[in-house]
Amino acid sequence: MEDRYLTFALGKGRLANKTMELLEEIGIHCEEMKDKDTRKLIFVDEKNKMRFFLAKGPDVPTYVEYGAADIGVVGKDTIMEENRRVYEVLDLGFGRCRMCVCGPETSRELLEHHEMIRVATKYPNIAKDYFYNHKHQTVDIIKLNGSVELGPIVELSDVIVDIVETGGTLKENGLTVLEEICPLSARMIVNQVSMQMQTERIRDLIDAVKKRL
Ligand code: PRP
Repeated sequence: MEDRYLTFALGKGRLANKTMELLEEIGIHCEEMKDKDTRKLIFVDEKNKMRFFLAKGPDVPTYVEYGAADIGVVGKDTIMEENRRVYEVLDLGFGRCRMCVCGPETSRELLEHHEMIRVATKYPNIAKDYFYNHKHQTVDIIKLNGSVELGPIVELSDVIVDIVETGGTLKENGLTVLEEICPLSARMIVNQVSMQMQTERIRDLIDAVKKRL
C-alpha cells in the first residue's frame, strides 16, 4: 500500500454526497464524513490512505491546480468558469443540468437582434465567452452571487446566464430558457503533477469508478 495520502477536494453539498456514494461502491469508505453535525473539514480513510475535504465549489479547481488536492469533483460549470490548469479525466454522469440564457419571453427579440443587453450571472467568464466569442454580441455583464433569477424580475438585467436543472425556479418566476449554452454534469479533475507521479494509483481509481458508471 502506498504511504502517501491521496487527497480529494469535493464541492460541498449534493455533489460531495453523490461522490462518496460512488466511492463506497469501490471500497473507499469515510464514516466520519456521514456525521451531519461534525464541524471537521478534513476526513481520512486510513485503510486506503485517502483524505477528503469539503470546499466551496469554485475553490475546488484552485486546490487541485496548486496540488493541495490530487483529485477534485466539481461541476463542469465551475471548471469552465475557473479555467484552471487541471486535467479533466472523467464525466461522472450525475449532477446533470444545462447552462442557459434565460429571461422573460420579451427578451427573446433583444437576443435575436443582437441588442446591447444586460446579462446578470454568477458565471461572468462563461457569459463573456458565449456572447463575445460565439454570438459576437456585445453585452454588459453584471456579476451576481446567487438568486440570479431576480435580475430580470427587478429589471437589473434583460437576461441571465445560469444553470437550469428542473426548470422549476424559472417557471415559478415567470422566466424561460431562451438559448442553451451547453450541457453540464459532475467531473473528476486531477492535478497535473499528481497525474505524472501517481499515475498507476490514479489510473486504477479512474478505471474502478468508470466500471460503476
Ligand atoms: C441553482 C441555479 C438556479 C436553480 C436551478 O441555484 O442557479 O437558480 O438552481 O434549478 P432548477 O432548474 O431545478 O429550478 P442554487 O440552488 O444553487 O442557488 P443560487 O441561485 O443561490 O446559486
